[in-house]
Amino acid sequence: MPTRQDAEKLLYEYTESEALRQHGHQVEVVMEYFAKINDEDVDRWGTVGLLHDLDYEKYPDQHCIKVREILEAHDYPEEIIRAIQSHGYGMCCDVKPESKMEKILYTIDELTGIINAACLLRPSRSVLDLKLKSLKKKYKDKKFAAGCDRSIIENGIEHLDYSADEVMELTIKALQDQAEKAGLKGNID
Ligand SMILES: [Fe+2]
Repeated sequence: MPTRQDAEKLLYEYTESEALRQHGHQVEVVMEYFAKINDEDVDRWGTVGLLHDLDYEKYPDQHCIKVREILEAHDYPEEIIRAIQSHGYGMCCDVKPESKMEKILYTIDELTGIINAACLLRPSRSVLDLKLKSLKKKYKDKKFAAGCDRSIIENGIEHLDYSADEVMELTIKALQDQAEKAGLKGNID
């Protein structure tokens, strides 16, 4: 399997947008965190997070479809390809999230987007001082980060062994632990 470095190189090759690269890193650290607390393969889950939107910038009309061809050409294992495709279930492909890794990715993708937007609006521009309560307020405000579909998150949570609060808390914690890599340190040292 290609290395972490290969995966990042591939992401940058297909993604010029700084925001989308950053989103890849954020989903990567969240997936790594969930792997760790579930005693799963941290590298594998991280790679899935990092590359999940690999085909989005260049092939928006074939999002979650084109990615298979790209990853197969780069010798990625089926488990990773399938997991990445399944995060578009019901939107752009019909691969249903089945494994724990797939269900977590499906759930935290949009949530990570909302947290990112919430952080950037804070005076600190940081995740380090973000509290669950404040995230929930933003989450409930449907006009806030309107592009992040709450129904996907809620559908995802239904298939997990975590409550909505737990998923949000753990996702915040994951981003706090790796704030620098996630680009969410803001002006807090
Ligand atoms: Fe995403």
